[in-house]
Amino acid sequence: MSTCEHEGVERILFTQEELARRVTEMGAQITADYAGKDLLVVSVLRGAAIFMADLVRAIELPLEMDFMAVSSYGAGTTSSGVVRILKDVTSSIEGRHVLIAEDVLDSGLTLRALVDELASRGPASLAVAALLRKDVPNQAEIACRYVGFECPDEFVVGYGLDYAERYRNLPFIGVLRQDMTE
Ligand code: IMP
Ligand code: MG
Repeated sequence: MSTCEHEGVERILFTQEELARRVTEMGAQITADYAGKDLLVVSVLRGAAIFMADLVRAIELPLEMDFMAVSSYGAGTTSSGVVRILKDVTSSIEGRHVLIAEDVLDSGLTLRALVDELASRGPASLAVAALLRKDVPNQAEIACRYVGFECPDEFVVGYGLDYAERYRNLPFIGVLRQDMTE
């Protein structure tokens, strides 16, 4: 890891080892739950890409991977709840067991919109695996079947999560130093 990137992090919340252990556990649970089913794992670019890559390798079932990219309207760091699809899944999800892999559930507005959109397309089932669920007030009601870790309401980076497109490649998740955003 580059020293320079590490300097942006105030403290580590989840180490590389903790992430690996938890993602392996999630994969085992998913393996048990989806045995015999036609599983399609949909990841939300770009933050969930690294979680997705590790998660699917911990699932011991035949599966397909697909990707979506969304942007929420509105400026700043808060979601507006209006989500625009920048890249849609390639395959039809009708009649399939769809599992959305998301990096972090914050306000929940992005996932709410995504779940509503995908649910309208007639999947056999639709569930969410979120690596992190932030402890924030007024979070949208999302039934997250799999949650990696509960996370304090702070801005975190690493393991796919960015600040201004940086820090995604850190192998751990940490709290961004406040002065890095000033
Ligand atoms: P929500 O719609 O507020 O739940 O926003 C979810 C999205 O915002 C996530 O998919 C992330 O891309 C981004 N996000 C939310 N919190 C953080 C954070 O602490 N670090 C990096 N990205 C975040
Ligand atoms: Mg994201």
